[in-house]
Amino acid sequence: MVDHDDTISSPASSSNLVDDSVDEQRTNDPCLGRAELVEYARDKSVVVSIGDVSRTYRVGGEVLHALNHVSLDVYAGEYLSIMGPSGSGKSTLFNMIGGIDTPTQGDVMIRDVAFSKLPRRLQARLRNRCIGYIFQTYNLVPVMTASQNVMLPMLLGGADKKQAAQRAAALLAEVGLDHRLHHRPDELSGGQQQRVAIARSLANDPSIILADEPTGNLDTKTGEQIIKTLSDMSRQRGVTIISATHDHKMLSVSDRVVTIRDGRIDNIELRDQLHIEIGSIEDHVPAVAESGIGEVNHE
Ligand SMILES: Nc1ncnc2c1ncn2[C@@H]1O[C@H](COP(=O)(O)OP(=O)(O)O)[C@@H](O)[C@H]1O
Ligand SMILES: [Mg+2]
Repeated sequence: MVDHDDTISSPASSSNLVDDSVDEQRTNDPCLGRAELVEYARDKSVVVSIGDVSRTYRVGGEVLHALNHVSLDVYAGEYLSIMGPSGSGKSTLFNMIGGIDTPTQGDVMIRDVAFSKLPRRLQARLRNRCIGYIFQTYNLVPVMTASQNVMLPMLLGGADKKQAAQRAAALLAEVGLDHRLHHRPDELSGGQQQRVAIARSLANDPSIILADEPTGNLDTKTGEQIIKTLSDMSRQRGVTIISATHDHKMLSVSDRVVTIRDGRIDNIELRDQLHIEIGSIEDHVPAVAESGIGEVNHE
């Protein structure tokens, strides 16, 4: 099991932790993050590789560089936070990683697949299987219940309806919502809706979760619970989390923090370097440290 206090080490320093045969197996698995791979998840294996990606927009005759030659490798199982002021290019970067938008220049690789060059149909399939998305505004389907929202990616991926319903119930229980399976989004609080969105993001056992300002619409306490839930999911399942955030509490659960400014990477810091300034989430927020996912009830 992965130690919660483990920090992500640099690729070079962790390269001796796993033997090559395990590496070989992992390379052949299109969807890292499955339970049996958890103990191997924190290593040098690159899950997402952003290679010299630029995205420009033409607005009224002017060229706007939303992303300007960004390169970044994201490692299996790490919790990576992307910080930066509004308009710095965070969502644009997410849209590149998730295949929602295409780079003007450069490539996004998911494992060894040139994701950004795939035909849309294959991109959609890979996204459905390997990437979970969490949005600031939850983006649940309003006419569907919590359970149906979580089932949706499974059904789109071709799952059996009964099995999808069972898995949705289990995932919603994991995020403490077993008593809200049949509620629609408008019958849930913001924090509960975001927990449904977390359950939905895990529906197809993805290797990567992209969370774009997941606490942006929540009050501080509820935001803390969401951060704790995301962090627990990342540790327990070995899922790679890439999260855009303004929320400094998010930094304490992050293995690395990337700061972007004007579409460029400005700075990359490891958690060890951050500790001095911000401490851990437990130091600052005892209530969160003590609460389990199922017990949180502040919303
Ligand atoms: N569809 C678009 N057309 C033109 N400009 C855009 C579009 N989407 C984003 N931008 C611009 O790209 C820059 C980065 O935006 P965004 O990635 O949304 O920033 P962030 O998520 O960090 O707030 C901003 O200047 C924004 O105005
Ligand atoms: Mg944004």
